[in-house]
Amino acid sequence: MRVFVSRRPPGTALERLDARHEVEVWPEPSQPSADELREHARTAEGLLAMLTDRIDAELIAACPSLRAISNYAVGVDNVDLDAASERAIPVGHTPGVLTDSTADLALALMLAAARRIVEGHELVRRGEWLTWGPDFILGRDLHGATVGIVGYGRIGQAVGRRVEGFGCQVLYTSRSGGTTLEELLERSDFVTLHVPLSNATRGLVGAEALSRMKPTAYLVNTARGPLVDTDALGRALREGAIAGAALDVTDPEPLPGEHPLLDAPNLTVVPHVGSATHATRAAMADIAVDNLLAALAGERMPYCANPQVYEGLPHQAGPRQSG
Ligand code: DGY
Repeated sequence: MRVFVSRRPPGTALERLDARHEVEVWPEPSQPSADELREHARTAEGLLAMLTDRIDAELIAACPSLRAISNYAVGVDNVDLDAASERAIPVGHTPGVLTDSTADLALALMLAAARRIVEGHELVRRGEWLTWGPDFILGRDLHGATVGIVGYGRIGQAVGRRVEGFGCQVLYTSRSGGTTLEELLERSDFVTLHVPLSNATRGLVGAEALSRMKPTAYLVNTARGPLVDTDALGRALREGAIAGAALDVTDPEPLPGEHPLLDAPNLTVVPHVGSATHATRAAMADIAVDNLLAALAGERMPYCANPQVYEGLPHQAGPRQSG
């Protein structure tokens, strides 16, 4: 069958796909435009997509042969799940394998923001490290702090385990318990976001939420940029309403170099690298290929984001849980 892969993932997983199907891989390091994606996916039965590809109803309608979409990400906010489900197209994703790498990055961002790592590095490079000083570039401690985890799924819990090791008190919100978002915002020294992007969570951290945070608190986002209202965050940083923010994800994304948010003080931004380790990206590729191979063979995807497409089909092994 014909498969279009919109960017080559690291590792050897694509060889397994290649051995069974006619695979075309987008050759550029930059993503295909919407027109290019439509043109290349038009006659494909399988699509291995990146989180930067917009797999909307229009794209799905333009691909009449499409039988399986495999997203190279745990988040599937770039895919219109309803449109895929209407066509009974399973949408695969990659949960579990990126949990620990993303949680590691959340910790790195907390420490970078509170201990002013990037600022200190830049200062040294500019030749401004003139002496040790008792009040030179002071920050705040992570150890002993109260960390508010918004969303207590795999990644949120992995962050919780890590900060417990730092002697932190953990507050969390989740569908099945925890505290209210309001209380979490008001009590936390670090607020870290780990919910998926949906209509319900878009703009979750806006002016009102930011105004509830302590002026000494930090916001960390390794989930999805549009969870945070970018303009409201810029204002909160400029007005000193919060102590700082560290973002792996932004809205817009990529954040252009001239974006006004980048002029805000106490801001650290990295370019959506939560899962960006050699091992994790290769493991994600393995799952993405497993999902596609299964679906194209008429079997259940091991990790399916719209399992309702299997209703009525004989039940097979459910998804593996990991990391
Ligand atoms: C995901 O998989 O959704 C992550 O954002 C990729 O880093």
